[in-house]
Amino acid sequence: MKPFKTIILAAGEGSRMKSKKPKVLHKIFNQPMIHHVIAAAKQCGCEKICVVVGHQAEQVKEAILQNDITFALQKQQLGTGHAVMQAMDFLEEDKNLLILYGDTPLITAESLNELISFHESQNNDVSIVSAIVEDPTGYGHIIRDGQGNFVKNVEHKDASQAEKAIKEINTGIYYFKGSALKKALAQLTNDNAQGEYYLPDTLSILLQSGYRVNALVTNDPSAYFGVNSPVQLAQATAILQKRINQRHMENGVIMLSPETTWIDPSVKIGADTILYPNTILEGNTTIGEDCSIGPNARLTDMTVGNAVQLQSSTAIGSVIGNGVTVGPFAYIRPDCHIADNVKIGDFVEVKNSIVGKGSKIPHLTYIGDTDAGEKINFGCGTITVNYDGSKKHRTVVEDNVFVGCNANLVAPVTIHKGSYIAAGSTITKDVPENVLAVARARQQTIDGWVKKH
Ligand code: UD1
Ligand code: CA
Repeated sequence: MKPFKTIILAAGEGSRMKSKKPKVLHKIFNQPMIHHVIAAAKQCGCEKICVVVGHQAEQVKEAILQNDITFALQKQQLGTGHAVMQAMDFLEEDKNLLILYGDTPLITAESLNELISFHESQNNDVSIVSAIVEDPTGYGHIIRDGQGNFVKNVEHKDASQAEKAIKEINTGIYYFKGSALKKALAQLTNDNAQGEYYLPDTLSILLQSGYRVNALVTNDPSAYFGVNSPVQLAQATAILQKRINQRHMENGVIMLSPETTWIDPSVKIGADTILYPNTILEGNTTIGEDCSIGPNARLTDMTVGNAVQLQSSTAIGSVIGNGVTVGPFAYIRPDCHIADNVKIGDFVEVKNSIVGKGSKIPHLTYIGDTDAGEKINFGCGTITVNYDGSKKHRTVVEDNVFVGCNANLVAPVTIHKGSYIAAGSTITKDVPENVLAVARARQQTIDGWVKKH
């Protein structure tokens, strides 16, 4: 494959979004739309990317700042052809150029590779992707001659009645030889219904000069779906959701309700893992085999081992070992390391803590800034008191400790191996090994008190 560069057009206003936010920054699966486009271009081996920005340029630039991406500014939005002209410095005559839109987030590396192979096998000077759609209103229509050869693109607003009925449309994705694009842009005019410089006019310009131009009819129009409104944003999200879920199911993941299962593109899941309804897996999350996740689970940037059972819980930025059970109604906050076979039960919050193998935190407990060893039992209502109003302190609980119910462990404090903490204790001093620590007022009985009152 010849080296190629990519221009992504993202200068348009996107007024139909009715949003203060630039259109291409609206998110699909937690990523701005344009990030999906950038990812697809990079995945199929593009060398360098230039994004044409205009409307709310600064905000768009800030959101996609990456070392290998440059920007071109289109001050006035005078059409797609005009937008590409703004990136003239980026264009190299002896390199190919892929043109994408920032608002077509469902584009895939496979579909782009298909276009590139088509282009190379036909030795074209420019190749575009067309699609057959039910409702071609608003698109550019592809006109072919009696032999089926590409003749030109006619924008809907410029089309005759007969042309408007043509269901083969321009998806707006192009692959150019740099030299051909440069030549065509120099001849582009804005003599049309919208007074705009139309990029698709470069096709007929080149054809008339004897260049090879052709359109590849895609068999996956969904990859070229454009987002112009909140309704289309939801439709695009649903298409991507289906695509992602299907891939996981093909790899042996079981989903009870794919419609209510939301998995970010980057998530990895092992075979024989079952996802119950309303499961959301986000960011850099990896889940092992034989797990059971959900219902009602939200995992963000989590690393989860094998055979983990997690229901009705939220977990963020942490690592969970094999055979762990979590929930219902647990909250694992960032920077936890939960070892194998730990039980984190209902109404338990764990934050910035290590919990060693086989330890149990069955209910109503807060473990924060704690280093907990193996085979510890935290009684119901244990609280690590980690915050003194200005600083956070660590609690250390060594192996085989038994913490009775409703104990406060006031950090910094260490409970050494094998000790017992009596229920209801407030522990403020270190506890040595293998003792019982009691830190609560002694019970008294007051005779005759009831009668007196
Ligand atoms: C364009 C094509 C049409 C095709 C359709 C596919 C033209 C003239 N028409 O129409 O043939 O069927 O896409 O979706 O190209 N943009 C700029 N600067 C501008 C104008 C547009 O950066 O001055 C960007 C927009 O932000 C957007 C993309 O180019 O990302 C497409 O522009 P849009 O106005 O949506 O083009 P369409 O009218 O949909
Ligand atoms: Ca459009």
